[in-house]
Amino acid sequence: MRAWQIVSDGGIDALKLAEVETPEPGHGQVRVRIEATSLNFRDLMTVKDPVARKLPYPRVPNSDGAGVVTAIGAGVTEVAVGDRVASCFFQNWADGACSVGAMNSALGGALDGVLAEEVVLEASGVVPVPDHLSSIEAATLPCAALTAWNAIVGVGKTKPGDTVLLLGTGGVSIFALQFCRMIGARAIITSSSDEKLARASEIGAWKTVNYAKHPDWDAEVQKLTGGVGVDLTVEVGGAGTLSRSVGATRVAGTVALIGVLTGGQIDPTLIMRKSITLQGIYVGPRRMFQDMNAAIAADGLKPVVHETFGFEEAPTAFHALEGAKHFGKVVVAV
Ligand SMILES: NC(=O)c1ccc[n+]([C@@H]2O[C@H](COP(=O)([O-])OP(=O)(O)OC[C@H]3O[C@@H](n4cnc5c(N)ncnc54)[C@H](OP(=O)(O)O)[C@@H]3O)[C@@H](O)[C@H]2O)c1
Repeated sequence: MRAWQIVSDGGIDALKLAEVETPEPGHGQVRVRIEATSLNFRDLMTVKDPVARKLPYPRVPNSDGAGVVTAIGAGVTEVAVGDRVASCFFQNWADGACSVGAMNSALGGALDGVLAEEVVLEASGVVPVPDHLSSIEAATLPCAALTAWNAIVGVGKTKPGDTVLLLGTGGVSIFALQFCRMIGARAIITSSSDEKLARASEIGAWKTVNYAKHPDWDAEVQKLTGGVGVDLTVEVGGAGTLSRSVGATRVAGTVALIGVLTGGQIDPTLIMRKSITLQGIYVGPRRMFQDMNAAIAADGLKPVVHETFGFEEAPTAFHALEGAKHFGKVVVAV
């Protein structure tokens, strides 16, 4: 079978399509024929800078895959051959708070990922996918959707009528927008593109702000909320946007700290003065993934897939993500 491998620090164009042995599942493991894998900003960073992550070579990238179970190892009872499953980002995080053990079980990082035709995963590291989703759609769930769910439902405890600020129209933010719509919360979303903002309005954004036209987008968000600020900000920008995110959030509101898209300086003063709860999020546990899938199935939510590439085109898919023209998710069909 074939797998894409990171074999050097040469970046996207140095990815190698290798012929490797089809893996056999050990005790408690399952083999999955991957039908689709989605790309996250983190996968792009991993391919571009494996040295920063101290990755051994070769390393198969990507955390998010969906496919069909083709073999099970000894002791596996809750997963059967033929089941449609998605990978859990962390192979060892069942429930509760994150731990060092969980962090050391990330696919496409500490462990080989799923940009391959067949992979072996822990039986406790896969979840059934909602019936109404194709594998291409289901492959978008493990990282971007679960992180957005953790921010909106887990950390944010968002209620109908709450206001939520989302930054940009990438994978995490568009799932967060869809979850706000599901809950009945009012989402304000920013983008550098009016065209993308128009699409965001079509799928339920309450208000939009072009952050390229309004570098002081926090002031715009304050105006849109009558000078109060939002209840929750889903912070995917990082150091370069955090201060304005805090500025856009109401007194005693919450900022879910997720992303590292931008660099910059952070002044903690406003976090203190506004009594902001600043909570870091690292994807989420399997239990939360199952809860999210139940909600997605009940709602009929369809992930927003911007573009799908063929398996041999994986490097082109990474370049597309890097180009940031996408709205929602970029997927590789395997
Ligand atoms: N902590 C975690 O567990 C976790 C999980 C998932 C993702 N993340 C992180 O979250 C971030 C987003 O991930 P993703 O996969 O959703 O990325 P993505 O799909 O690649 O999102 C890219 C989009 O981000 C927007 N963006 C870029 N700079 C921005 C800025 N200064 N202000 C507002 N928006 C900006 C742009 O939207 P427009 O084109 O609309 O301007 C761009 O298209 C990344 O840093 C990623 O590493 C963390």
